[in-house]
Amino acid sequence: MPRRLSDQAPDVAATAAEVLTGLRESPKRLPCKLFYDERGSQLFEEITRLPEYYPTRAELSILETRASEMAAHLGPRCLLVEFGSGSSLKTRILLDELVEPAGYVPIDISKEHLLESAAELAAAYPTLEVLPVCADYMTEVEIPATKIAPARRTVFFPGGTIGNFHRQEAVDFLARKADLVGAGGGLLIGVDLDKDPEVLNQAYNDSQGVTAEFNQNVLVRLNRELGADFRIDCFRHRAFYDRVAHRIEMHLDCLEDHVVHVADEEIAIRKGESIWTESSYKYSIPDFQDVAVQAGCVPSKLWTDDRDLFSIHFLTSEV
Ligand code: AVI
Repeated sequence: MPRRLSDQAPDVAATAAEVLTGLRESPKRLPCKLFYDERGSQLFEEITRLPEYYPTRAELSILETRASEMAAHLGPRCLLVEFGSGSSLKTRILLDELVEPAGYVPIDISKEHLLESAAELAAAYPTLEVLPVCADYMTEVEIPATKIAPARRTVFFPGGTIGNFHRQEAVDFLARKADLVGAGGGLLIGVDLDKDPEVLNQAYNDSQGVTAEFNQNVLVRLNRELGADFRIDCFRHRAFYDRVAHRIEMHLDCLEDHVVHVADEEIAIRKGESIWTESSYKYSIPDFQDVAVQAGCVPSKLWTDDRDLFSIHFLTSEV
């Protein structure tokens, strides 16, 4: 069993305030972290297995072939801190190669999913100290103390989730993580690479409609958790690659004029208006390294898959 959960999750009032702020903006926005309730996490797992969604397979192929090299860079008695740990599937490949890890701290906003995967992981690695933290990783997260003193902290942030931040947010996020691991600490970051727009458009517009359901589920969640009354059938999934901004944008397009109540406040949404639910930036290698340097990190090593679809960067903190 993992040690007791450290619950640092935001409360309903904080979520309602963030949602209302986003819906009052123009264009209307919702933070993409809201995708990951229980159903959203299941749908995301389904997305990772879709034929069109290449990032997970590409990243797994890098981990499967390069995990021992990565472990050598992380060194013995490393404390592995994973932000947005989900099912911790990729982590296992790394954990299998790590030399006497001091512990593993999976951090995720989806509490049920986190507890389930932390328990599975603790059972599979009986000598590993697993210390789950339920938190929004955009906020300051307190790292629990381990029984074994770590030689080094390394943040693991796979999946290309860094691409879900706008550029300055990515710099700020990495700078905070560099600070968390301290000078000489490591950051192992999965970064999706820029590529043929056709491949990208298909990855976010799958033929089975799973991404569409994943996108709409955010409204189902707001109806349930914040007592909102979005008419789900009034919103259609739209995703497209913006070649200038180098990002996929996901939107929910409103098909009919609509007044929605969220936490007792009224929000009018017009037909033709959209709610911008996610951005997913695609980087070139030098461009991401530039982000890392701006965050106070030294790009120390990087690995890509054999088709150059995806990259994993090992950065060393200088702060
Ligand atoms: C979690 N994140 C890296 C995914 C992405 O590709 O930006 C989320 C996602 N959105 C639609 N499909 C997958």
